[in-house]
Amino acid sequence: MPSLQELINVHEQEIKAFSPADNTDLENFRIRFLGTKGIVKSLSGEMKTVPPDQRKEAGQMLNAFKQLAEEKYASFKEMQEGVANNGPAIDYTLPGIPLPIGTRHPLRIVENQIVSIFEKIGFSVATGPEIEDDWHNFSSLNMPADHPARDMQDTFYVSSNPDWVLRTHTSSVQARILETQSLPVRVICPGRVYRNETISARAHCFFHQCEGLYVDKDVSFADLKQTLYYFVTEMFGADTKVRFRPSYFPFTEPSAEMDISCTVCGGKGCNLCKHSGWVEILGCGMVHPNMLRNFGIDPEVYTGFAFGMGVERITQIKFQVNDLRLYSQNDVRFLRQFQSL
Ligand code: PHE
Repeated sequence: MPSLQELINVHEQEIKAFSPADNTDLENFRIRFLGTKGIVKSLSGEMKTVPPDQRKEAGQMLNAFKQLAEEKYASFKEMQEGVANNGPAIDYTLPGIPLPIGTRHPLRIVENQIVSIFEKIGFSVATGPEIEDDWHNFSSLNMPADHPARDMQDTFYVSSNPDWVLRTHTSSVQARILETQSLPVRVICPGRVYRNETISARAHCFFHQCEGLYVDKDVSFADLKQTLYYFVTEMFGADTKVRFRPSYFPFTEPSAEMDISCTVCGGKGCNLCKHSGWVEILGCGMVHPNMLRNFGIDPEVYTGFAFGMGVERITQIKFQVNDLRLYSQNDVRFLRQFQSL
């Protein structure tokens, strides 16, 4: 049978180690030590077993023990009430740990600019899937299976289904719009496209395009030129000159490529324009009658124009980024340079 002093010692250790997780813990502590049937009470009851010559000392020990339990209880109680009344003991006026602010990706900045320039003249945004079927990426765009123009774009095929490709251009969205929307349509289609190219400074296996499509009665090549001229002046400034060169795309006839006067050297000749004074920025043309027919549209009644540009190309011209790989390397030293835009 342990003596009163030994019992007190054991319980003292318990009190010293006590640290409540919540109110319930603290209340259990009160009941265990200070309650009417608690340890302090029962140890007081043991006093009568202490030999008379040791009573004084034992009484002092018991008092100190009781005080320890009461103080421990009171200090935690005070802390918990403080939490309840004033919230946690944290000074919210102290400055926080700064979180670095992210930046918009340069391609997104430029894509947003392109889209908003066209939105101002009534184009709305349309999107489509990145995994496309042959019909929307090729066949409906006047490129049947044996058409040599398919070789213009090195295609990734989905191995489990030979009818599926990673779309090679956002012209697939043109097809989806003509299939589902009633005329007239005036859309701008931004999105990622894929081509089986070896990755280098000048080519990548994925990049971004913005395609435009306008189909209505009496849409002419003059409308196309004027629309693109408006785009160039908004994007690159009123001094920028444009020129059109005849070209070929299966889904447009006639087709053209558009150059702008070099915005870096002003036409004098530099690396960007390869000393020609001009940089190519997009392909365009009048929607091919076959393509309109593919979607049940009568080309005698409706005409349209389409154009498609590479977002990386426009970004390269605007910010003089000379290596395409920078866009997908996620190097913050590169990305931070666009923080203010
Ligand atoms: N789809 C063409 C390309 O990827 C661009 C284009 C779009 C050309 C619309 C004409 C009309 O190269």
